[in-house]
Amino acid sequence: MNKQIKGLIFDLDGVLVTTEHNHFIAWKNTSDILGIPFDEEDNEQLKGISRVDSLKKILEMGKKTISEEMFNELLRKKNEFYLNSIQEINQSNLLPGVLSLLQTANFNGLKCAVGSSSKNARFILSKLQIENYFSVIVDGNDVSFPKPHPEVFIRGAELMGLIPSECIVFEDAQSGVQAAKAGGFTAIGVGNPALMDFVDSYLPNLNEFSLEEYA
Ligand code: G6P
Ligand code: MG
Repeated sequence: MNKQIKGLIFDLDGVLVTTEHNHFIAWKNTSDILGIPFDEEDNEQLKGISRVDSLKKILEMGKKTISEEMFNELLRKKNEFYLNSIQEINQSNLLPGVLSLLQTANFNGLKCAVGSSSKNARFILSKLQIENYFSVIVDGNDVSFPKPHPEVFIRGAELMGLIPSECIVFEDAQSGVQAAKAGGFTAIGVGNPALMDFVDSYLPNLNEFSLEEYA
Protein backbone atom coordinates (compact mmCIF):
# COMPACT_ATOMS: atom_id res chain seq x y z
CA MET A 1 0.00 0.00 0.00
CA ASN A 2 1.29 3.45 -0.94
CA LYS A 3 1.94 5.25 2.38
CA GLN A 4 3.36 8.33 0.62
CA ILE A 5 0.04 10.07 0.09
CA LYS A 6 0.16 13.82 0.82
CA GLY A 7 -2.78 15.09 -1.19
CA LEU A 8 -6.35 14.15 -2.06
CA ILE A 9 -7.96 15.29 -5.32
CA PHE A 10 -11.74 15.06 -5.53
CA ASP A 11 -13.92 15.08 -8.60
CA LEU A 12 -17.00 17.21 -7.83
CA ASP A 13 -20.20 15.88 -9.44
CA GLY A 14 -20.99 12.41 -8.12
CA VAL A 15 -18.06 12.30 -5.66
CA LEU A 16 -18.62 15.30 -3.38
CA VAL A 17 -22.19 16.15 -4.28
CA THR A 18 -25.37 14.63 -5.72
CA THR A 19 -25.46 16.82 -8.86
CA GLU A 20 -24.98 14.00 -11.43
CA HIS A 21 -28.75 13.46 -11.48
CA ASN A 22 -29.30 17.17 -12.17
CA HIS A 23 -26.86 17.00 -15.09
CA PHE A 24 -28.76 13.95 -16.41
CA ILE A 25 -32.17 15.67 -16.28
CA ALA A 26 -30.75 18.82 -17.92
CA TRP A 27 -29.25 16.72 -20.76
CA LYS A 28 -32.52 14.76 -21.06
CA ASN A 29 -34.41 18.05 -21.54
CA THR A 30 -31.83 19.14 -24.13
CA SER A 31 -32.06 15.80 -26.00
CA ASP A 32 -35.85 16.13 -26.05
CA ILE A 33 -35.48 19.46 -27.90
CA LEU A 34 -33.33 17.64 -30.45
CA GLY A 35 -35.71 14.65 -30.61
CA ILE A 36 -32.88 12.30 -29.63
CA PRO A 37 -33.78 9.46 -27.22
CA PHE A 38 -31.59 9.63 -24.11
CA ASP A 39 -31.65 7.56 -20.93
CA GLU A 40 -29.54 7.05 -17.80
CA GLU A 41 -27.41 4.42 -19.52
CA ASP A 42 -26.56 6.90 -22.30
CA ASN A 43 -25.79 9.46 -19.60
CA GLU A 44 -23.02 7.19 -18.21
CA GLN A 45 -20.95 8.13 -21.27
CA LEU A 46 -21.28 11.83 -20.44
CA LYS A 47 -20.18 11.63 -16.81
CA GLY A 48 -17.00 13.55 -16.21
CA ILE A 49 -16.64 15.00 -19.71
CA SER A 50 -17.06 18.68 -20.61
CA ARG A 51 -20.33 20.38 -21.60
CA VAL A 52 -19.17 20.77 -25.23
CA ASP A 53 -18.03 17.13 -25.52
CA SER A 54 -21.29 15.97 -23.92
CA LEU A 55 -23.43 17.71 -26.55
CA LYS A 56 -21.17 16.32 -29.31
CA LYS A 57 -21.75 12.80 -27.90
CA ILE A 58 -25.55 13.26 -27.77
CA LEU A 59 -25.53 14.42 -31.42
CA GLU A 60 -23.41 11.37 -32.32
CA MET A 61 -25.88 9.10 -30.50
CA GLY A 62 -28.74 10.65 -32.50
CA LYS A 63 -26.67 10.79 -35.73
CA LYS A 64 -27.58 14.48 -36.06
CA THR A 65 -25.69 17.55 -37.19
CA ILE A 66 -26.76 21.08 -36.26
CA SER A 67 -25.52 24.61 -36.95
CA GLU A 68 -22.91 26.20 -34.72
CA GLU A 69 -25.52 28.74 -33.62
CA MET A 70 -27.94 25.98 -32.54
CA PHE A 71 -25.08 24.11 -30.85
CA ASN A 72 -24.22 27.15 -28.74
CA GLU A 73 -27.88 27.83 -27.99
CA LEU A 74 -28.34 24.25 -26.73
CA LEU A 75 -25.24 24.57 -24.52
CA ARG A 76 -26.76 27.71 -23.04
CA LYS A 77 -30.13 26.03 -22.54
CA LYS A 78 -28.60 22.95 -20.92
CA ASN A 79 -26.77 25.13 -18.43
CA GLU A 80 -29.95 27.09 -17.75
CA PHE A 81 -31.88 23.85 -17.03
CA TYR A 82 -29.02 22.71 -14.81
CA LEU A 83 -28.58 25.95 -12.85
CA ASN A 84 -32.34 26.26 -12.29
CA SER A 85 -32.38 22.76 -10.83
CA ILE A 86 -29.57 23.43 -8.33
CA GLN A 87 -30.74 26.78 -6.97
CA GLU A 88 -31.53 25.24 -3.57
CA ILE A 89 -28.37 23.11 -3.31
CA ASN A 90 -26.76 23.07 0.15
CA GLN A 91 -24.74 20.89 2.54
CA SER A 92 -27.56 18.30 2.69
CA ASN A 93 -26.59 17.43 -0.91
CA LEU A 94 -23.08 16.37 0.06
CA LEU A 95 -22.52 12.64 -0.46
CA PRO A 96 -21.94 10.37 2.57
CA GLY A 97 -18.57 10.72 4.28
CA VAL A 98 -17.48 13.87 2.43
CA LEU A 99 -17.50 16.34 5.28
CA SER A 100 -15.80 14.06 7.81
CA LEU A 101 -13.08 13.04 5.31
CA LEU A 102 -12.35 16.68 4.46
CA GLN A 103 -12.17 17.54 8.15
CA THR A 104 -9.87 14.58 8.95
CA ALA A 105 -7.62 15.30 5.97
CA ASN A 106 -7.29 18.99 6.90
CA PHE A 107 -6.66 18.09 10.55
CA ASN A 108 -3.88 15.67 9.53
CA GLY A 109 -2.17 18.21 7.25
CA LEU A 110 -3.10 16.53 3.96
CA LYS A 111 -3.78 18.91 1.11
CA CYS A 112 -7.15 18.70 -0.63
CA ALA A 113 -8.03 19.77 -4.18
CA VAL A 114 -11.03 19.69 -6.47
CA GLY A 115 -10.43 18.48 -10.04
CA SER A 116 -13.66 18.92 -12.00
CA SER A 117 -14.71 19.30 -15.64
CA SER A 118 -17.55 21.57 -14.61
CA LYS A 119 -17.48 25.29 -15.29
CA ASN A 120 -19.94 25.65 -12.40
CA ALA A 121 -17.63 24.04 -9.84
CA ARG A 122 -16.73 27.19 -7.88
CA PHE A 123 -20.36 28.28 -7.70
CA ILE A 124 -21.45 24.87 -6.38
CA LEU A 125 -18.61 24.69 -3.83
CA SER A 126 -19.62 28.08 -2.49
CA LYS A 127 -23.28 26.98 -2.22
CA LEU A 128 -22.07 23.90 -0.31
CA GLN A 129 -19.88 26.09 1.90
CA ILE A 130 -16.92 23.70 1.67
CA GLU A 131 -14.40 25.81 -0.33
CA ASN A 132 -12.29 26.40 2.75
CA TYR A 133 -11.29 22.75 2.94
CA PHE A 134 -9.52 22.97 -0.43
CA SER A 135 -6.16 24.61 -1.04
CA VAL A 136 -6.64 24.19 -4.79
CA ILE A 137 -9.62 24.20 -7.17
CA VAL A 138 -9.12 23.30 -10.84
CA ASP A 139 -12.25 23.24 -12.98
CA GLY A 140 -13.49 23.32 -16.56
CA ASN A 141 -12.50 26.99 -16.88
CA ASP A 142 -8.84 26.25 -16.14
CA VAL A 143 -7.91 23.48 -18.56
CA SER A 144 -7.28 23.21 -22.29
CA PHE A 145 -7.79 19.45 -22.45
CA PRO A 146 -10.80 18.04 -20.59
CA LYS A 147 -11.01 14.54 -19.02
CA PRO A 148 -10.10 11.83 -20.04
CA HIS A 149 -6.94 13.94 -20.53
CA PRO A 150 -5.07 14.13 -17.20
CA GLU A 151 -4.48 17.93 -17.30
CA VAL A 152 -7.05 18.79 -14.61
CA PHE A 153 -5.44 16.43 -12.07
CA ILE A 154 -1.85 17.24 -13.06
CA ARG A 155 -2.60 20.95 -12.57
CA GLY A 156 -4.21 20.15 -9.23
CA ALA A 157 -1.17 18.23 -8.00
CA GLU A 158 1.26 20.90 -9.26
CA LEU A 159 -0.69 23.68 -7.53
CA MET A 160 -0.57 21.67 -4.28
CA GLY A 161 3.21 21.35 -4.78
CA LEU A 162 2.94 17.56 -5.10
CA ILE A 163 3.71 14.91 -7.70
CA PRO A 164 1.02 12.51 -8.96
CA SER A 165 2.36 9.50 -7.02
CA GLU A 166 1.77 11.49 -3.81
CA CYS A 167 -1.92 12.04 -4.58
CA ILE A 168 -5.12 10.02 -4.60
CA VAL A 169 -7.84 10.91 -7.11
CA PHE A 170 -11.45 10.10 -6.16
CA GLU A 171 -13.70 9.59 -9.20
CA ASP A 172 -17.17 8.34 -10.10
CA ALA A 173 -16.75 8.40 -13.91
CA GLN A 174 -14.88 6.31 -16.48
CA SER A 175 -13.45 9.44 -18.13
CA GLY A 176 -12.12 10.63 -14.76
CA VAL A 177 -10.55 7.28 -13.90
CA GLN A 178 -8.85 7.25 -17.31
CA ALA A 179 -7.55 10.77 -16.63
CA ALA A 180 -6.23 9.82 -13.19
CA LYS A 181 -4.49 6.65 -14.43
CA ALA A 182 -3.02 8.47 -17.45
CA GLY A 183 -1.57 11.07 -15.07
CA GLY A 184 0.06 8.47 -12.79
CA PHE A 185 -2.28 8.95 -9.82
CA THR A 186 -3.75 6.35 -7.45
CA ALA A 187 -7.40 6.19 -8.57
CA ILE A 188 -10.17 5.36 -6.13
CA GLY A 189 -13.59 4.73 -7.66
CA VAL A 190 -16.56 5.95 -5.63
CA GLY A 191 -20.26 5.10 -5.90
CA ASN A 192 -20.20 3.55 -9.37
CA PRO A 193 -19.62 -0.25 -9.35
CA ALA A 194 -18.91 -0.20 -13.12
CA LEU A 195 -15.51 1.32 -12.25
CA MET A 196 -14.42 -1.62 -10.10
CA ASP A 197 -12.14 -3.27 -12.68
CA PHE A 198 -10.40 -0.04 -13.68
CA VAL A 199 -9.43 1.53 -10.35
CA ASP A 200 -6.79 0.85 -7.69
CA SER A 201 -9.52 0.57 -5.10
CA TYR A 202 -13.32 0.85 -5.11
CA LEU A 203 -15.60 2.28 -2.40
CA PRO A 204 -19.42 2.50 -2.35
CA ASN A 205 -19.01 5.90 -0.65
CA LEU A 206 -16.38 8.02 1.12
CA ASN A 207 -17.46 6.77 4.56
CA GLU A 208 -15.58 3.58 3.66
CA PHE A 209 -12.28 5.38 3.02
CA SER A 210 -9.58 4.86 5.62
CA LEU A 211 -6.94 7.57 5.52
CA GLU A 212 -4.58 5.58 7.77
CA GLU A 213 -4.09 3.06 4.97
CA TYR A 214 -2.52 5.68 2.74
CA ALA A 215 -1.05 8.54 4.75
C1 G6P B 1 -18.87 17.19 -14.71
C2 G6P B 1 -20.01 16.23 -14.82
C3 G6P B 1 -20.65 16.22 -16.17
C4 G6P B 1 -20.83 17.65 -16.66
C5 G6P B 1 -19.48 18.32 -16.78
C6 G6P B 1 -19.57 19.76 -17.26
O1 G6P B 1 -17.69 16.60 -14.55
O2 G6P B 1 -19.64 14.91 -14.48
O3 G6P B 1 -21.87 15.54 -16.09
O4 G6P B 1 -21.49 17.66 -17.91
O5 G6P B 1 -18.86 18.33 -15.51
O6 G6P B 1 -20.24 20.54 -16.32
P1 G6P B 1 -20.76 22.02 -16.54
O7 G6P B 1 -21.31 22.40 -15.18
O8 G6P B 1 -19.60 22.85 -16.94
O9 G6P B 1 -21.79 21.96 -17.60
MG1 MG C 1 -18.06 12.97 -11.46
